[in-house]
Amino acid sequence: MKLSKVILTGAVGLMSLSLAACGGGDGDGGGNAGQTVFKLAFNQTEEHPQYAAGVALGEKLEEATDGRYSVKVYPNEQLGSQADVLQNVSDGTVELTWTGAPTLESYNPDFVVFNLPYMFDSTEAQNAVLSNTDALQDLYTSMEESKSFTVLTGVNAGTRNIYNSKHPITTPADLQGLKIRVQQSDSQVQMIEDMGAISSPMSNGDVYSALQTGVLDGAENNEVTWDALKQSEVAKYYSYTRHLMLPDYLIMSTKALDKMSEEDQAALLEIIPEVQQIANDGFADFTQKSIDHATEIGAEFNDDVDIDAFKATVQPLVEATVAESETRQELYQLVQDANAANPAK
Ligand code: GCU
Repeated sequence: MKLSKVILTGAVGLMSLSLAACGGGDGDGGGNAGQTVFKLAFNQTEEHPQYAAGVALGEKLEEATDGRYSVKVYPNEQLGSQADVLQNVSDGTVELTWTGAPTLESYNPDFVVFNLPYMFDSTEAQNAVLSNTDALQDLYTSMEESKSFTVLTGVNAGTRNIYNSKHPITTPADLQGLKIRVQQSDSQVQMIEDMGAISSPMSNGDVYSALQTGVLDGAENNEVTWDALKQSEVAKYYSYTRHLMLPDYLIMSTKALDKMSEEDQAALLEIIPEVQQIANDGFADFTQKSIDHATEIGAEFNDDVDIDAFKATVQPLVEATVAESETRQELYQLVQDANAANPAK
């Protein structure tokens, strides 16, 4: 059965605990006998709140399934870049991963709507959309048949800004000639070119050395990633363009889900909002720590940015992208409603 059915109906399997399918076979030896240990791939450090959220998922799942399931989190791209890992989740060799939103665009292009610049007016607006599981149901289950993965939840991953090794950025003209890393998707490439820079798509793990060797002049990311991955040491000018609020998604192999009993699936689903909350709460706290640390090592923050000028450069991209399908227009409307209820502070 599909997870989508569970979410739609809230159905809890009638199987009793004793009849429930016992995992087995997939364990990595770290858990109890007969326990299935899901591998959760993560591309950042153990300090990152999504690492903690992944660990919490394992603990809660173990408790809720009487030890039948647990999770082991593999940080620092140990299992590969986000793009590579998604392929493995699709194949069923990795069961879970956190992934940046643009990586999903090549699987279902409608995911692009939440990845467009200046889409969300506030963190609260983004949280309102990402908590609206009914409205996101079709999107989140859209890749189950073709790719065999299910989106379990989306979380806030801060606001992204541009940083570089040369100088502060105030207007689009300041980006001219700068080679800026973006995530690997068409929307991200187009966005940074529209804003005035030269785009260079690559995986997150390659950014530090590319900055260090001068292959890149800069990148764009939240403060947490910029500092935790030491990019703040080699690209110290951090300018508040506030151009993106990209969600991260927790993805699960549909094949792994299907192997769980209905009862265990339901237990997993019940835990997901708690995991979402842990990731979101941790992020806000970690952002301030990252700013403090980057300041200590000599980074410079610039909040004198002509946001209206940057918005104007990407407006045609936003309009053309949203107009492409009815689904995108519906998702866009969802964001607009959330923005109206949760305006920028
Ligand atoms: C953020 C996001 C990650 C993503 C990264 C990137 O850190 O949380 O999921 O991988 O940006 O720019 O690649």
